[in-house]
Amino acid sequence: MRGKIDWQNYRSIVVLTGAGISAGSGLPTFRGPGGLWSDAKILEFGTVDALRERPFEVWRFFAPLREKLKSVQPNPGHLALATLEADLQPEQGFTLITQNVDGLHQRAGSKNVIEYHGGIYRTRCSNRSCFFEPFEDFDAHLEEPQVCPFCGDPLRFDIVLFGELIPMDAQRLAKQAIRKCDLFLAVGTSGTVFPAADFVVTARSHGAHTILINLEEGQSNVTSFNEVYFGPAETLLPELLAGKTD
Ligand code: APR
Repeated sequence: MRGKIDWQNYRSIVVLTGAGISAGSGLPTFRGPGGLWSDAKILEFGTVDALRERPFEVWRFFAPLREKLKSVQPNPGHLALATLEADLQPEQGFTLITQNVDGLHQRAGSKNVIEYHGGIYRTRCSNRSCFFEPFEDFDAHLEEPQVCPFCGDPLRFDIVLFGELIPMDAQRLAKQAIRKCDLFLAVGTSGTVFPAADFVVTARSHGAHTILINLEEGQSNVTSFNEVYFGPAETLLPELLAGKTD
């Protein structure tokens, strides 16, 4: 069965994902029913000021999400995107820009992934001028906050907090890909946080065909898309992206 999205016909594909694609793996979204943002603590601990003033409390706030990653798996939505990338012809470009920090796309096999908000499974030093390299760390260290072995400053999750800039490399690579693409797919994102919420406008202005896949209406930027499909990404994506065989 051929999927509804004829991805074979495009020369360069960009996919933007948000928390909605990981909902099927049991991870909470930020907005909507049961969303994390209904938790005022996110505003108290999810900022760069909180990190400066109370680094160990910020660590303890996010640590449960890293702990939870030990018990969740990529879902068929993640796997469908990894299969799409693997099935493309060599001359077709593919870039996956994710706002998620859970690393599930890479675990599903996606290769060209831009982690626009970082990765919670990586630890780095909170001191920007320290040479200590970020490293993969799946231990939540719930019992004791960690300090840098080089400079003694508190360690932190390698994620973008509110009030921080998106990493320059991520910004540059995302902008390049979006300007080149002729198919832009947004999956499971509320389209409320900039600059990612504007990607669809940039893609369209460069002539791309744009498709939104989301659980339900109420999207703030749904009108910016040429096509919209509503439903859970974990079931809809595999259907829409079904392989080459008819
Ligand atoms: N399938 C598809 N979409 C889903 C599903 C699902 N199973 N479940 C929820 N959704 C949709 C919701 O309807 C919502 O529109 O996913 C979207 C999730 O939106 P948010 O919770 O706002 O997450 P996101 O768009 O990723 O937020 C962007 O905001 O808080 C910051 O840094 C945080 O990266 C995050 C950014």
